[in-house]
Parts: sequence; C-alpha cells; structure tokens
Amino acid sequence: MKKTIFSGIQPSGSVTLGNYIGAMKQFVDLQHDYNGYFCIVDQHAITVPQDRLELRKNIRNLAALYLAVGLDPEKATLFIQSEVPAHAQAGWMLQCVAYIGELERMTQFKDKSKGKEAVVSGLLTYPPLMAGDILLYGTDLVPVGEDQKQHLELTRNLAERFNKKYNDIFTIPEVKIPESGARIMSLADPLKKMSKSDPNQKAYITLLDEPKQLEKKIKSAVTDSEGIVKYDKENKPGVSNLLTIYSILGNTSIEDLEAKYEGKGYGEFKSDLAEVVIGALTPIQERYRELIESDELDRILDEGAARANKTAGKMVKKMENAMGLGRKRGLSRKVCKLF
Ligand code: AQP
Repeated sequence: MKKTIFSGIQPSGSVTLGNYIGAMKQFVDLQHDYNGYFCIVDQHAITVPQDRLELRKNIRNLAALYLAVGLDPEKATLFIQSEVPAHAQAGWMLQCVAYIGELERMTQFKDKSKGKEAVVSGLLTYPPLMAGDILLYGTDLVPVGEDQKQHLELTRNLAERFNKKYNDIFTIPEVKIPESGARIMSLADPLKKMSKSDPNQKAYITLLDEPKQLEKKIKSAVTDSEGIVKYDKENKPGVSNLLTIYSILGNTSIEDLEAKYEGKGYGEFKSDLAEVVIGALTPIQERYRELIESDELDRILDEGAARANKTAGKMVKKMENAMGLGRKRGLSRKVCKLF
C-alpha cells in the first residue's frame, strides 16, 4: 500500500517563489509514489488579519496554482481546510493535549506576535491545528520548507503524547525538507525569509507576477558591492539566494553558474536569471488562467473535500472515542454507564 503525504499552504497572500521551491515543487514530484493530501489551510490564514474578499480570492488562486504547477487531481486529493470540519475538531482536541509553554516557544508565534499590542489566541494555537491537519490522514511524510521544521517536531510530540495518554491511533509523521531551496530569502533583505505576507512587495516574487514585474524585482534584488557571482551564504547572502533560485529553476549546478559568470558583473547574471524565472513561470501562469474561472476547479475541490471528509471524519471519531467524548454507540445505556 502507498504511504501518505500531507502538506498545506496558507492563502495569506499571493503564492511566492519560496512556497513553490520549498514546498509545491516537492508535492509534484512526490504525488506519483504517495497517497497525497494537499490542503489550502484557510483557517490558519485567519490567525492574522485578512480582508474577506482578498482571502476568498487568494483561496481560489492557490487552488488553481496547486493544479497549474502540476498536481494531478486523479492522483492527489486537493481540498480547502474549512470545508472539512474535522480539522477544527481535531485542532481543538489537540489544543487540550498541548502545553501553553511549548506553544509560546514556537519561533513563528514569537515573530508574528512581536511588537503587536493585541495578539489573537489563534496565533498561539496554530500548531495544534496544524498537527490535526497532518494526523487526520495517517500521514507518513510531510514535505515542507525549513521554516516549518519546528511545527513538525511539535506535531510529532503531540501525536506521541496523545498515543500514550489515550490510545495509540496516530502515525508519527516524518518531515521532508528539500536539500536545496528549503529557505528562499527575501529579495529586499536576504537575511529574512521570502514571505507572501511581507509588506514590501519587492521582497518576494509571486507565481503570478508579470514578466516585466519579474524583471524589475530581480534587477533590484539586494546583492553586495563586490561584483563577484559566488556562493557564500554568510558573506554574500543576496547573491547566494539568487544563485539558489537560478540553479533550481534553471536545472544547473551552482558551480557551473559560478564558472559561467566568472569575471562578469551582476547585471548580466540578473538579466539571465530573470529570463530563467520567466521561462519557468510562463507555463504555470498559462495553465492558471485556464483554470481560475473554470467549473473544473470547483469540481476538483468538491471531490477533494468529499474524499478528505471521509478519511478525516473517521479519524475524528477515533480521537473522540479515545478521549471519551460523546456517546459510545451500539451499546445499551446500562453498559454505557460502565464507561
Ligand atoms: N521562503 C521560503 N523558502 C522555502 N520554503 C518556504 N515556505 C514558505 N516560505 C518559504 C514553505 O511553503 C509552504 C507553505 O507555507 P505557508 O503558507 O503554510 O506558511 P509560511 O511557511 O509562513 O509561508 P509564508 O509565505 O511565509 O506565509 P506567511 O507570510 O503568511 O507567513 C511551507 O511548507 C513552508 O515551509
């Protein structure tokens, strides 16, 4: 039997090149060998303020992009988190297993709550919801970028704690982080991760940026004054980040790129990189445009939600039984009193 993978992306903005290289690209490669569940985690997105119309647009865009990058709905299940109530149910039960201290130690919580006057509790309880997303499907493997590693460790801890305390029902998932491109950096500040919610639009490339915008963003990417195209993450983070993107999207090794641009300045390097990025994104954008207004997209999401509800609903029942929630079905009231 095929093993199961699960991964999610938040519709908290336009999908970035970081999301694509760190996560989506892996999904497409893995879908052939695994039973895949891919989720648009809209309930995670509302842990920070969202405009409702923008959120709706981002949900649909993300669904179309999952397919446009090559996800095959015949092979994998694509669905929206809020259309599968088991996620919120499992999230609540796992919140009752998680400790506040361990949630407060999460880097993402610290980063996103820093300097804020009021922080919603959902930002703190995001990781148990994420653990529920993963554990509901008996997931063996979770392909993510490096920033999600800490949340995955917590997921494993919560699953082990639940199994020990209540009943051994959860598979303990492994994390899969790509060897290269696990952390694509901001174009404006190469010491910061590229993020779709970055207020500076020049900091990220989205999968839907027009060729002209792509060229502009890449040309203005922060590098250094040395003028040498060389991979050195510590001393040349900007150039190293661009080399990583070039190497992955252009299917070339970093060594070959360093040799190709030896003695040449950043101008030529950046304009070639822009061409490579445009070349990689153009077919994705074409497929996206075919899908975005289509009934096909709704059909795929309806079918995905039905499949996900079936599997996740069963696991929620197991969790409730293990914790003693609700009624035990199929037994007389007298016998029930014993439980
Ligand atoms: N810069 C990145 N490099 C490599 N991988 C990345 N991922 C995110 N940014 C990078 C991976 O993309 C997947 C989806 O991430 P997410 O949407 O669930 O949330 P995130 O990790 O918080 O991503 P963003 O873009 O930074 O979103 P916002 O700005 O809303 O917080 C994950 O597998 C992630 O590792």
